[in-house]
Amino acid sequence: MAITMEKSLFIFLFIAITSIASTQAGNFNITNKCNYTVWAAAVPGGGVKLNTGESWNMNIANGTNNARIWGRTNCTFDNSGVGKCQTGDCNNTLECKTFGTPPNTILEFALNMYNNLDFYDVSLVQGFNIPIKLTPSSSSCGMVNCTRNITDECPAQLKVPGGCNNPCTTFGTSEYCCDLSSAKSVATNASATCTPTNYSKFFKDRCPSAYSYPKDDATSTYTCMGGTTYDVVFCP
Ligand SMILES: *[C@@H]1O[C@H](CO)[C@@H](O)[C@H](O)[C@H]1NC(C)=O
Ligand SMILES: *[C@@H]1O[C@H](CO)[C@@H](O)[C@H](O)[C@H]1NC(C)=O
Ligand SMILES: *[C@@H]1O[C@H](CO)[C@@H](O)[C@H](O)[C@H]1NC(C)=O
Ligand SMILES: *[C@@H]1O[C@H](CO)[C@@H](O)[C@H](O)[C@H]1NC(C)=O
Ligand SMILES: *[C@@H]1O[C@H](CO)[C@@H](O)[C@H](O)[C@H]1NC(C)=O
Ligand SMILES: *[C@@H]1O[C@H](CO)[C@@H](O)[C@H](O)[C@H]1NC(C)=O
Ligand SMILES: *[C@@H]1O[C@H](CO)[C@@H](O)[C@H](O)[C@H]1NC(C)=O
Ligand SMILES: *[C@@H]1O[C@H](CO)[C@@H](O)[C@H](O)[C@H]1NC(C)=O
Ligand SMILES: *[C@@H]1O[C@H](CO)[C@@H](O)[C@H](O)[C@H]1NC(C)=O
Repeated sequence: MAITMEKSLFIFLFIAITSIASTQAGNFNITNKCNYTVWAAAVPGGGVKLNTGESWNMNIANGTNNARIWGRTNCTFDNSGVGKCQTGDCNNTLECKTFGTPPNTILEFALNMYNNLDFYDVSLVQGFNIPIKLTPSSSSCGMVNCTRNITDECPAQLKVPGGCNNPCTTFGTSEYCCDLSSAKSVATNASATCTPTNYSKFFKDRCPSAYSYPKDDATSTYTCMGGTTYDVVFCP
């Protein structure tokens, strides 16, 4: 009888501890080191408000393709999580289900793809709002970052409140949009031309490990073994 009670207590504790662990466990630890509040966003994943120094430990499921993590600035949300942000807004919700609006510095992921590899990159294809750094837990995998404050140096034509826009959003021409799925770029036959431009070079010069224009694959994508955990820092 005593043994049974002990056993069931043990099983109860085991279940309780493992379920706490599984709700807290995450393969991404996102920290805000900016001296202003950032509303972190992930799709899939949602979003949370991070004051300076706060972290959000979240999980993106094995096998997820086309995931994004980014930060939003200057947001106001009501108690039900409805509101808006100056940069990176996701359809007026605190917990994102859709990607953010430009300009926003983006981390892109495809987890456990070929050979169980993770693919990731930092992208300025949607412009820049916050400096960012991604560090895989395994030191054999490449770190990616964009640590310069590009907002500060932004060409006048691309300047918008809170960030530096991408030239596709600003000008909407095939030269800048490539095959982004914008109606404008389809209408102007974007696939015809897609090479670096003086604007993409402006971004690339400042953040060499980032995607600077839609076809900038060669120098920008990194891989790491599936199951890796990643630290994301805003304003590293
Ligand atoms: C996340 O990162 C922060 C800042 O480096 C650290 O203090 C915290 O312990 C980390 N959280 C987890 C769950 O690893
Ligand atoms: C935040 O940091 C920036 C850049 O270092 C600085 O210009 C600004 O004054 C700081 N703002 C606050 C509120 O500390
Ligand atoms: C955006 O939010 C509106 C209002 O809640 C909703 O009707 C719409 O489906 C959402 N759009 C997307 C793309 O999720
Ligand atoms: C950012 O990445 C570049 C290129 O990989 C590297 O040289 C630099 O040290 C990194 N900066 C930080 C702050 O991690
Ligand atoms: C970047 O520069 C902008 C514009 O000068 C400034 O408002 C912002 O605080 C700076 N951000 C950081 C992280 O230094
Ligand atoms: C928030 O908006 C104000 C007013 O436009 C601006 O001065 C400030 O730099 C913005 N903050 C951030 C973090 O972008
Ligand atoms: C778009 O450009 C490509 C390459 O120049 C050309 O082969 C194709 O016919 C064009 N498509 C349209 C719809 O004009
Ligand atoms: C890019 O070229 C256009 C047209 O020549 C010019 O107006 C613009 O200032 C240039 N931008 C940069 C960042 O050099
Ligand atoms: C992810 O799922 C695949 C397919 O089920 C499996 O082979 C792989 O071991 C898993 N990887 C991790 C890191 O859990």
